[in-house]
Amino acid sequence: MSEVALQHIYSGKVRDLYEVDAQHLLMVASDRLSAFDVVMNETIENKGRVLTGLTNFWLREFSGSVPMALISCDPDVIESMVPGFSSKTEWHGRTMLVRKAEMLPLECIVRGRLAGQAYDEYVNSGTVHNMAAPKAMALTDAFPTPMFTPSTKAESGHDINIDLETAASIVGAELLNKAQTMCLDLFAKASAKLQASGLTLADTKFELGFVDGELVVCDEVLTPDSSRIWPSDEVRSGETPPSFDKQPFRDWLSEQPWDKTPPPPTIPASILDITSKRYVAAYEKVTGRLLRDWYGA
Ligand SMILES: Nc1ncnc2c1ncn2[C@@H]1O[C@H](COP(=O)(O)OP(=O)(O)OP(=O)(O)O)[C@@H](O)[C@H]1O
Ligand SMILES: [Mg+2]
Repeated sequence: MSEVALQHIYSGKVRDLYEVDAQHLLMVASDRLSAFDVVMNETIENKGRVLTGLTNFWLREFSGSVPMALISCDPDVIESMVPGFSSKTEWHGRTMLVRKAEMLPLECIVRGRLAGQAYDEYVNSGTVHNMAAPKAMALTDAFPTPMFTPSTKAESGHDINIDLETAASIVGAELLNKAQTMCLDLFAKASAKLQASGLTLADTKFELGFVDGELVVCDEVLTPDSSRIWPSDEVRSGETPPSFDKQPFRDWLSEQPWDKTPPPPTIPASILDITSKRYVAAYEKVTGRLLRDWYGA
């Protein structure tokens, strides 16, 4: 860092965290891409800005109904707390100034439709996160009502899907209940909003934490990395669901002789390019805004 002197405290698969002071962090979303919890060698142009812009869009959409860790993505606001930030243009649009939270040790997944790992489990055992599910559901079918299906938040390795009883044994029944109510409410609001744009929210993952004793929404919100969002008119019961973001990358990856452990395969430039375009298109379709109007883009 040139002018900005901040202590780097953590790097996740996608984000780098820096400490502003005892109560505040900068979360900087990189252009890194991960698959099966392995970070690829290449980056996807604009991805960090898309993730940050979408998170900001949804949190503004929800503000009033839910407390959040996010303070601002505006470089001028961040500058007032982090002198020198204005000139660090590479970080503009990919940085969230947030209140530091004590993270809940759960990933709060909500599933409106049967897909992904949940589908694999359902085919094997008829359950979803070890919980009862309706009989004879096909891939992409909607649950009677969205299911709150937490997973562990692994420090390393893969998260494990758990049932509500196990989740309650980790955080306590009362807190779990609170998290469930909050996440189901956000899911319903987001679903309705997306539906109006011809999009179906299949599932998503929220991360919650405590700030000053209050449960707040943290991290990324309803991004392509944390959600499955499908063009509604292409959803067919029992068929591989369409994806409007990472499908070209997933298709390419599924053809690679890769055992899902590092090192990852080398991604061709054409796949990187189309994936970047898909991320940008996702931002523009969901928000109705152009990415070029977002900070730093
Ligand atoms: N307000 C906050 N205060 C403290 N930590 C936060 C806050 N918001 C998010 N985090 C944490 O910051 C990290 C963000 O890093 P990143 O998104 O790269 O995560 P990851 O958890 O390693 O990977 P993935 O998102 O793919 O599961 C996560 O560990 C997340 O729980
Ligand atoms: Mg994360």
